[in-house]
Amino acid sequence: MKFPKATILASALVVGVVSAFATLAQAASPQTLKLGKKMFDANCSACHQPDAIGKPGLAPSLSNPELLAMSSDRFLMATIRDGREDTGMAPFSHLGRKNVRAIVAYLRSTANVENRSAEIDAQPDARGDPRLGKQWYNYICSTCHGVRGNGYEAGGTGTAIGLPSTLSKVSDGFLRETIKKGRSNTRMLAFQGPAALANLSDQEIDDIIVYLRGLRKN
Ligand code: HEC
Ligand code: HEC
Repeated sequence: MKFPKATILASALVVGVVSAFATLAQAASPQTLKLGKKMFDANCSACHQPDAIGKPGLAPSLSNPELLAMSSDRFLMATIRDGREDTGMAPFSHLGRKNVRAIVAYLRSTANVENRSAEIDAQPDARGDPRLGKQWYNYICSTCHGVRGNGYEAGGTGTAIGLPSTLSKVSDGFLRETIKKGRSNTRMLAFQGPAALANLSDQEIDDIIVYLRGLRKN
């Protein structure tokens, strides 16, 4: 294939600019991190605990390496801005974009992991059989997440993975990877691999995702 010189130059420029942004996004200034920690301590730590380690049944860990590796800034910012309707997670839009951005930078600084969200969010949507998904869900997941996926309200330690306020903000890739890998130092175990609590196949995991998406049409 032959590209005109101008196209090559333009793509080189785009790549340069994009990687410059990526570096900027990763290297938050000390002032931003200080602001983010201050904002977190004042607004979030009562539930999410100091250092964002979370507390079962009260609020999830936000310094979790799996969560941070799988979450886009967009997901984190939108969840903080809008909260999660019908859960204990309130909206924080009043803090303003700059402060919310600083909180996200601070959270990212708590676990030094590569942000894989672009690749994960680009995964194909789940395809499967919701009836089989329902069986697995009720058998394995409902004790912690609630039969209707309502989360803590149902008395368990898992978050509200059946509610539109959660599902509307996450990709199937995010759900899939979370189910496969679990979250370190929380009750959310990995459901794939030899060490897993239950070694679910890719298809079984997709069946569960399709079931969750259909729980309340959203
Ligand atoms: C009153 C308690 C409370 C406060 C204060 C609170 N949260 Fe939450 N947060 C929760 C709960 C409960 C959930 C889980 C909701 C569910 O069940 O799905 C949550 C979920 C989240 C999530 C999604 C995590 C995941 O695993 O997907 C993020 C991000 C988050 N909170 C950030 C924040 C930030 C940042 C602040 C401060 C600006 C904050 N929260 C303040 C209770 C709280
Ligand atoms: C022993 C309890 C437990 C079981 C069983 C369990 N989970 Fe979880 N799950 C959790 C907890 C706890 C979290 C949040 C981690 C935290 O508190 O920081 C979570 C988080 C999640 C999340 C991320 C949600 C969010 O708010 O970001 C998904 C998706 C999820 N679980 C799916 C499942 C599925 C599907 C199953 C069944 C195959 C399952 N879980 C089984 C406890 C459990």
